[in-house]
Amino acid sequence: MYYPDEVIEEVREKNDIVDVVSEYVKLTRKGSSYFGLCPFHNEKSPSFSVSPGKQMYYCFGCGAGGNVYTFLMEYENYTFQEALKTLADRVNYPLPELEYSKEAKQEADLKATLFEINKLAGKYYYYMLKSEHGQRAMEYLKNRQLTDETILKFGLGYSGKNGYDLYNYLKSKGYKDDILKQTGLFNVDSKGFYDRFRNRVMYPIMNTNNKVIGFGGRVMGEGEPKYLNSPETKLFDKSRNLYGLNIARSSRKPNMIICEGYMDVISLHQAGFNQAVASLGTALTVNQAAILKRYTDNILLTYDSDGAGVKAALRAIPILKEAGLSIKVINMRPHKDPDEFIKALGCEEFQKRIDGATNSFMYEVAIMEKDHDLKDPDSKTAFFKEVAGKLTEFTEELERNNYIEAIANKYMISYESLRNLVNARGMQLGIEASRRPVRQKNKDNIINKEDALVQAQRVLLTWLIEDTGLFKKLENVLSPKDFIEPLYNKVAVLLYEQYAGGKVSPAAIVNHFDSEEEHKEVAALFNTPLRSNLNDNDREKALNETLQRVKNNSFDYRKEHALSVNELQEVMKEQAQFQKMHIYLN
Ligand code: CTP
Ligand code: MN
Repeated sequence: MYYPDEVIEEVREKNDIVDVVSEYVKLTRKGSSYFGLCPFHNEKSPSFSVSPGKQMYYCFGCGAGGNVYTFLMEYENYTFQEALKTLADRVNYPLPELEYSKEAKQEADLKATLFEINKLAGKYYYYMLKSEHGQRAMEYLKNRQLTDETILKFGLGYSGKNGYDLYNYLKSKGYKDDILKQTGLFNVDSKGFYDRFRNRVMYPIMNTNNKVIGFGGRVMGEGEPKYLNSPETKLFDKSRNLYGLNIARSSRKPNMIICEGYMDVISLHQAGFNQAVASLGTALTVNQAAILKRYTDNILLTYDSDGAGVKAALRAIPILKEAGLSIKVINMRPHKDPDEFIKALGCEEFQKRIDGATNSFMYEVAIMEKDHDLKDPDSKTAFFKEVAGKLTEFTEELERNNYIEAIANKYMISYESLRNLVNARGMQLGIEASRRPVRQKNKDNIINKEDALVQAQRVLLTWLIEDTGLFKKLENVLSPKDFIEPLYNKVAVLLYEQYAGGKVSPAAIVNHFDSEEEHKEVAALFNTPLRSNLNDNDREKALNETLQRVKNNSFDYRKEHALSVNELQEVMKEQAQFQKMHIYLN
């Protein structure tokens, strides 16, 4: 299901990156590069550069970077295929027909049909809402102060009362039961098919490409369950999608707002906060956090201010933090959720709450405080011990000290005594930690594994791409199998193939990955700037260190997976030889 590498390369070569980017960003020439204001983050002085030589862009401010495909993927939120199509059209390049394997074709056809049906269902619900059957539903939405424009924008609808309208409609369009069963839109029993959603206000859930992947349906007024959602299907993965992200992703705001409900998202968007998203009736997942990190560095949490909302926030904070996001919590009191808040106080007040949002650490401490009576000396001591334990989580000294200072100021205790407590607690925890086995990190999450070993593999790959002379120098030392990380391994295999074929071309490699997430990860790989300010000596030292890390990790992996004593000895021999090596750059 891929276009041939040559096609991708040709389309890329015909689309000069300076020309393409210039259609979006005003660029000025400075030396051999062009500079402009970065379209991916807010800035006042230009740190966004485009290199005609490399045919790549890179922002020194926010780290965005890539080739002409990446640019369109980032700017227009296109998938790789969409970017390719656009660029091919731009230069009148005729794309060849794709050749699929039989299974891939069946799978793609199935998904395409499911998308088609979801779209029809969405349109049908919308039509029902606008018809006389939908009068009450329309009143309900109007009562909740939604405008026609908002209703259209979110494609809201109404599912009829009798329970077979949608089924009959889709049958009349020629769809077979076998496929309808897989849409999640119907319940099936011995008597046949029934519409899953009956007499509910319908909220289509879209993926980031604006395609309907599922629905949420709300009862009008009281009733159980309040929301009914589509079950997981081939298209609908609740852990990897977010409500409203299709719009929020291109809001170009300096943050994203996470709230609890569909209605909160809709209200916020209507009030101009079009950077709001919500999870899909489940707690926020690691995957969702990783997806958000692609679009922003700053998260504002606006979960309900009741007990359940606080609990959800406390669960979400560490997950978001782990993904590298910085988090603040919006206080909505005395109101329950953003929807109610905006109705009661309006958007200017909400903006004030955004501006005054609490840093997530201070928020967590404030919640801890509620379990203690600071007037009671024992309880107060217990509280500070708990806070000290939490402060040890900051591994960077400066950051930790800043937080110690903030807490000391807020609770009016001396900075020194709190810092002593933190250090004592840190020692204690350190001893405990050294006795514990290392925690296994999430295996299928790339972003989660930003530890030194993964980073070393990435740096080494970037190095090979930047300086293809290294392939020769590392000929007898390094091979693709030394890249243990699955994604990097795949890249390394392709890269070595290209090298053997005579031409290393990053743009072609990107095409071998399916998901947009992987595309961006690979694009990032090709655009991680190596520290160019190093002198030759330091460069050589850095290379050897990185190589050590990658190789030793690879040896460890092979030892762990060795199937025989012979194999184990073989690896150990290789490792011993490797330790004696040094790679010279010049
Ligand atoms: N939810 C769900 N199933 C339920 C209740 C809630 O899937 N039975 C999910 C929905 O995604 C809902 C979110 O949890 O949007 C938050 O629930 P709640 O705060 O009750 O709903 P709101 O979106 O605030 O809806 P409304 O304002 O209409 O009450
Ligand atoms: Mn609500």
